[in-house]
Amino acid sequence: MRNFAKNLGRTALVVTAMTLGLSFGAKAEQEIKIGYALATTSHYGVAANNWQEVVESGTDKRFVFRHFPSSGLGGEREVLEGLQIGTVEATIVSSGTLSNFVPEAGVFDIPFLFRDLAHARGVLDGPIGQEILGKFESANLIALAWGEQGFRHITNNRNAIEKPDDVAGLKLRTMENPIHITAFNTLGAAPTPMAWPEVIGALQQGTIDGQENPLSVITSAKLSEVQKHLTVSGHVYSPAMLLVSPDLWNSLSDEDKEVFKKGAAEAVVAMRAFVDDVEKSGVEQLKKEGMTVGELTAEQKAEFQKALAPAYEEYYKTYGKELIDGIIAAK
Ligand code: PAF
Repeated sequence: MRNFAKNLGRTALVVTAMTLGLSFGAKAEQEIKIGYALATTSHYGVAANNWQEVVESGTDKRFVFRHFPSSGLGGEREVLEGLQIGTVEATIVSSGTLSNFVPEAGVFDIPFLFRDLAHARGVLDGPIGQEILGKFESANLIALAWGEQGFRHITNNRNAIEKPDDVAGLKLRTMENPIHITAFNTLGAAPTPMAWPEVIGALQQGTIDGQENPLSVITSAKLSEVQKHLTVSGHVYSPAMLLVSPDLWNSLSDEDKEVFKKGAAEAVVAMRAFVDDVEKSGVEQLKKEGMTVGELTAEQKAEFQKALAPAYEEYYKTYGKELIDGIIAAK
């Protein structure tokens, strides 16, 4: 009788546990909310998928990613703040607002700093880039890797751009990025800093004439539907960053930290491959979609660089001439 009662008690416990979804032996899953500004088919989506695959398989699905693409968790600044307070676990962001968290990160936003993608990748993966990545911890953010978007180009509905005078008074949306704002003010444009979720609406309503972003963004956000002119200006490299929240990071074992880092590194490889492809095919695609495209020649780019000399004086004061020259000269 005693055994019967004991067995009955056990059975009841098992049934209750199963009803609650806590079957014995099952591992608890932790959801990783990952927010990013663009579609799942963009370079961010591709990177987030790669990150997810490595983490989920490397932890036997103890961590499961849930995507919030297309600014589903708000603008990039809001998502970074979410990471700081622990309401979001992971993100991939542009350098738009990063220098507001770690001022040193802004050095990579200086126009005409990098010759090409290989130059930028070398510096970001090298000691200067890695040192800046490490500074995010003191801003209550864990930066795991530099990603990228490509070189930024100008799109607008007012006129084709061939020389600095062509941007005079142009109402150009910029990221909330002081380095970019200084550059476009120096060129005589009317920079309008704005969070990304507002940009398409503002272009449709005509409250701004244009914006600037890499081909990866111009194609994936379908900007050809709201913009006439594309100027392949390549005026500035656009880094991205993969970050996690300190709450998540501090809860991980050393082994799991390595899995998250490995996933971020593989995500960067996928993101860079995506950017390589779109840098080759993006202009043709945008022409087919009806945009008028002009590419700045080396001489025309030199005119813009000359016009930016006063901005460079500001950048030297902020970051030091030695650092800037060192980055420019890096092989
Ligand atoms: O222009 C921006 O704000 C960024 O490049 C974007 C489109 C949000 C991607 O990070």
